[in-house]
Amino acid sequence: MTVAAEPARPGTVSLIRLLPRLARDPVNMLADLGRRSGGGIVRLRSGRVPVYLVSHPDDVQHVLRGRWENYVREGMFWRPLRRLLGHSVLDDGSAWRSSRDILQPLFTARYVASLAERTADVVDLRVGELEEHARSGRAFDAGEEMADVVNETVVKVLFGGRLSREHGRRLSSAYDHAARSIAFRLLLPSMPYSARLPGDRPFMAAVQTIDDVMLPMVRRALTMPDDGADVLSALLRARRAELPADGRPARPAEVEAQLRDDAVSVYGAAAESTATTLTWLWTLLDAHPHVASRLYAEVEHVVGSGPVLAEHVRELTYTRMVLDEVMRLRPSGWLFPRMAVREDTVGGVRVEAGAQMLITPYATHRLDEFWDRPLEFDPERFAPGEQERRHRYAYFPFGGGPHQCLGKHLFLMSAPLIVAAILSRFRPLLRGDGRYTPAPAGSLRPREKVELVLVPAARARQAAR
Ligand code: HEM
Repeated sequence: MTVAAEPARPGTVSLIRLLPRLARDPVNMLADLGRRSGGGIVRLRSGRVPVYLVSHPDDVQHVLRGRWENYVREGMFWRPLRRLLGHSVLDDGSAWRSSRDILQPLFTARYVASLAERTADVVDLRVGELEEHARSGRAFDAGEEMADVVNETVVKVLFGGRLSREHGRRLSSAYDHAARSIAFRLLLPSMPYSARLPGDRPFMAAVQTIDDVMLPMVRRALTMPDDGADVLSALLRARRAELPADGRPARPAEVEAQLRDDAVSVYGAAAESTATTLTWLWTLLDAHPHVASRLYAEVEHVVGSGPVLAEHVRELTYTRMVLDEVMRLRPSGWLFPRMAVREDTVGGVRVEAGAQMLITPYATHRLDEFWDRPLEFDPERFAPGEQERRHRYAYFPFGGGPHQCLGKHLFLMSAPLIVAAILSRFRPLLRGDGRYTPAPAGSLRPREKVELVLVPAARARQAAR
């Protein structure tokens, strides 16, 4: 006779007791809980809703892939974001499915490669404008500047020529405000909207600004031909194909809202994650000069003094390793929880229907069982062939399963181009004490301002001789 194994008891911690640390540094607090439990499921006692930290790769795989239909984007994190994102590819159920089906073909490795040449031109032009910083020798806010450089490329890919630079900047700054002001709501999702939380007012003002830019663009697009190669054109074509034969939607406002929600969601997912990853890069390079020197050498060898070209992406292998390691230690998608629809057993622990499962690559990427010296920055972990030797879910900056990031290839094409374009012209020097705390915004960003000074690369090379 076989006896069914009793479900294991999860490690339990009281969030009230951890409140001071939670307020100071919630991101590292969660990671430390994961490390101390050796990747075991940890139950966080907080309120009525059971909350579990899931960090072991087997358990992450179970939630994101194996039993993904039982784990939906509801509650923590997602509920407050819905006030910005609406019902889109970042939702779940039928709204997600229909958007995902339309968008997927636009983000394959092959399609994205076809955009590389145009992206390289845009990047080269925009990075050339940083010359002004190098001339003045003054420090500037790297977060803002990276957001602007990324914005220029993302807006072209997503919306073609539909948004002016000025509108693109309004959008980028409004997202930045939204991402910063949503922190309390992300951590307290069951708080009713009738109760005011810090950040509510600036968050709603940011949503209004985003709508002021996006809605007129969507409305104009609806009256125009949709033959462009950009993402909004593809969305228009697909949504039009769903209309009745006379081409008139039964509910025009619904079509408009669908397009608005997807445009807002894809832009948000693309721009912020890429910009914050590139901002963290400079802080990590500053702390690891031997990595920086090797990166400079690769860019010099592949790109020389520029311009950066589409075919360089393939050759920038160390640049890619460095970016992979930045995303291990500073994954911009640091938290994407799920809600259990039905009761289940995860890692031997019984979880209740309605439980919130905290999935955070920031914690998994630091587990001693899967990473040698996990807190050290070492791009060699991503030397060719290394990644294949790991558990698929020991490293998942782009998520996994059916909700896996759509923009992975776009990031892996555009980010090396941006890094190489910058380093072919400049050497960025960090100002400040080099200590940066990860802040729990929509994507992981440094709480402190990252300030850079640019020195012309040619001058730095001469000085080194
Ligand atoms: C550093 C760069 C990026 C990182 C780290 C990142 C990370 C992620 C993660 C972790 C998810 C999964 C969320 C979940 O499972 O709930 C995701 C989903 C998504 N990402 Fe990214 N992302 C990045 C860049 C981009 C770019 C450039 C785009 C451009 C289109 C993009 C579009 C999306 C979309 C549309 C989804 C939703 C997919 C779905 O649910 O079907 N991302 N991303």
